[in-house]
Amino acid sequence: MTRRKGAALLAASLLSFGAAIAQAQTPLAETPEDFPPGPGREETFYICTACHSIALVKAQSLSRDAWADTISLMQRRHGLTPLDPALGAQVLDYLSTAFPQRTAPRGFTNPFLTP
Ligand code: HEC
Repeated sequence: MTRRKGAALLAASLLSFGAAIAQAQTPLAETPEDFPPGPGREETFYICTACHSIALVKAQSLSRDAWADTISLMQRRHGLTPLDPALGAQVLDYLSTAFPQRTAPRGFTNPFLTP
């Protein structure tokens, strides 16, 4: 390999490495509009997507108590900062309204839960 070819190869591999890093650092293209509309949507979106995708949040359907537990788990285990009480209530209201606990479809019994 000539020296010039070697340099070109090195430049090309550095470029693709750089592109891979840039791609890894590109923020997720998620916006508050990806959450169902309702009061507290923006606040909840920005608080809960600081660390992870909204997919983790949207996948849940929980009771109000279970949402409160989830927020407290984020704080105890993962370092979510304590929320001002009014803001905390707004986030909890939003989550329990937008992603409420679902009841099983009529007629469906979970075979793993029946004794
Ligand atoms: C300071 C960082 C941080 C913030 C802010 C945060 N989370 Fe999390 N969350 C995490 C980490 C870390 C995990 C674990 C991720 C994993 O398992 O891949 C997680 C996981 C979750 C899960 C999945 C739990 C499970 O059992 O699978 C849910 C639901 C969740 N977060 C909801 C929320 C909600 C709602 C908010 C906003 C109130 C929030 N998170 C804010 C760090 C955070």
